[in-house]
Amino acid sequence: MKIAVLPGDGIGPEIVAQAVKVLEALRGDGLKIELEYAHLGGAGYDAAGDPFPPATEKLALASDAVLLGAVGGYQYDTLPRPLRPEQGLLRIRKGLGLFANLRPAMVYPELVNASSLKPELVSGLDIMILRELTGDIYFGQPRGIRTLDNGERQGFDTMLYSESEIRRVAHVGFQIALKRNKKMCSVDKANVLDTSMFWREIVIDVAKEYPVIELSHMYVDNAAMQLVRAPKQFDVILTGNIFGDILSDEASMLTGSIGMLPSASLDAHNKGLYEPCHGSAPDIAGKDIANPLATILSVAMMMRYTFAREDIAQRIEAAVRKVLQQGLRTGDIYEAGMQKVGCTAMGDAVVNSL
Ligand code: IPM
Ligand code: MG
Repeated sequence: MKIAVLPGDGIGPEIVAQAVKVLEALRGDGLKIELEYAHLGGAGYDAAGDPFPPATEKLALASDAVLLGAVGGYQYDTLPRPLRPEQGLLRIRKGLGLFANLRPAMVYPELVNASSLKPELVSGLDIMILRELTGDIYFGQPRGIRTLDNGERQGFDTMLYSESEIRRVAHVGFQIALKRNKKMCSVDKANVLDTSMFWREIVIDVAKEYPVIELSHMYVDNAAMQLVRAPKQFDVILTGNIFGDILSDEASMLTGSIGMLPSASLDAHNKGLYEPCHGSAPDIAGKDIANPLATILSVAMMMRYTFAREDIAQRIEAAVRKVLQQGLRTGDIYEAGMQKVGCTAMGDAVVNSL
């Protein structure tokens, strides 16, 4: 298992350090795990003047999987856009062809009170959001800021999806639904956008190959509302890049803390980049208070999807469950009566319960 480790910025290095402890414990059990580090985001800019340095690209291309912390920091906000940390993230996704972004939103029974919704609305919640990750308005050309003949300035982007891009992510969605409750909701804005009308047409066509899956369609504004009204109606949500960006942040809050949610970004051959759904949280960086569980759970996803080791994935997930049952909580999921711990202590506890 050749894994590229990209700690990134902000809390990235501290949360990744905890996930690496988990990997090292697994290595102690006999797994052949090889770790190599590189820079991404602001760390890449600082080290090599590039948020996605060539050395990082080379390592990522040569690895089976990538473990990423997070990117971004206030000090980079004024850089020209190509040099900003987020560009490193977008380029590694595009460069590795990671078109299928899996963002599970599930509620742990131990954390049901941490949700901002009533416990009965979220208890038992288990949604898988599949976000297309290398197309849409994120990458469409042309884009830019231009000056019209009358002197008025204008910003513009292009939303577009090709048929092959929609087909391949739809297949991933149906395959995931087959292993779950066999329900998939495709989210679009087909009442307004041509791109979405086309998306829906192709998804309906791909669905013919999966007659056992119950496919539904929902406009994105309604989906945003349904997610907070009755989130348990969803099983798999399939959507494009920008709608998925927004809905996955919304869904994360149903679970109590974005600090609990892992993600996987896969190519066509299950090579993947694994990262927590949350950002680099520069305000709490270096204080040893960040929640490392999303990153640790990302390692579980790595074992499941890239290395086809469901057994190890479940072992890591069970270890996380156990520390929650023991009452250990980082600040973001803390409630009275629990034991507040920092990032390192949380990582140690997961390793112990492994
Ligand atoms: C995410 C983030 C990124 C995105 C940013 C940091 C570029 O919000 O992974 O959801 O928009 O995809
Ligand atoms: Mg986002």
